[in-house]
Amino acid sequence: MFITFEGIDFCGKSTQIDLLKKYLQSLNKKVEIIREPGGTEISEIVRSVLLDKKHNRMRMETEIFLFSASRAQLVREKIQPAINKGIYVISDRFHDSTTAYQGYGRGIDLETVKHINNLAIDGAIPDITFIIDISVQAANERKMRKGKSHLDRMELAENDFFERVREGYLTIARQEKRFRVIDGTKTINEINKLIIEEINLLERKMV
Ligand code: TMP
Repeated sequence: MFITFEGIDFCGKSTQIDLLKKYLQSLNKKVEIIREPGGTEISEIVRSVLLDKKHNRMRMETEIFLFSASRAQLVREKIQPAINKGIYVISDRFHDSTTAYQGYGRGIDLETVKHINNLAIDGAIPDITFIIDISVQAANERKMRKGKSHLDRMELAENDFFERVREGYLTIARQEKRFRVIDGTKTINEINKLIIEEINLLERKMV
């Protein structure tokens, strides 16, 4: 099974990924966690170029190619081989981040984004995608706790940008069945329970 987690920065994805991993492992399933951008030697180098706040002159076209280059490598080197071995792959972000951030957020033409995504993912469409939805204001409160000096290039973007990204996620969630939008203001345990229910439901459908 290929599971992806999405949402604006500080939505709480990583905590949920960790809990889901522990749950699946408790059932003796093999799990591989991947983060985007990153996850291979090449992709981690691309990640550091993308997130370095020194690179504030980066153009949106450069940005989409770098995120997609990182993903193209990750899909072929890690994701496809793991899925073929029956491993549960959980990715912290995937191509929907490109649609939400570079498409809706930056304003790159959505058809172009679709073509670039297709080339990068080579048919590796997630079986299920959780969007942890929180308001930009709630995200900002969490962001403040991290402190401005620790924010990366993407996290330093304006509120308007994150509003567009959030709306983008909610729009794409209405277009495909694989999406589950989860209210990120619920407690960690409530969210974890919802996610496990959805995974179990899907698993029953897939056998
Ligand atoms: P992270 O903070 O969740 O590790 O993600 C890195 C940042 O990169 C985050 O702000 C979201 C952004 N991003 C994109 O803009 N496009 C993408 O395709 C991906 C994967 C991430």
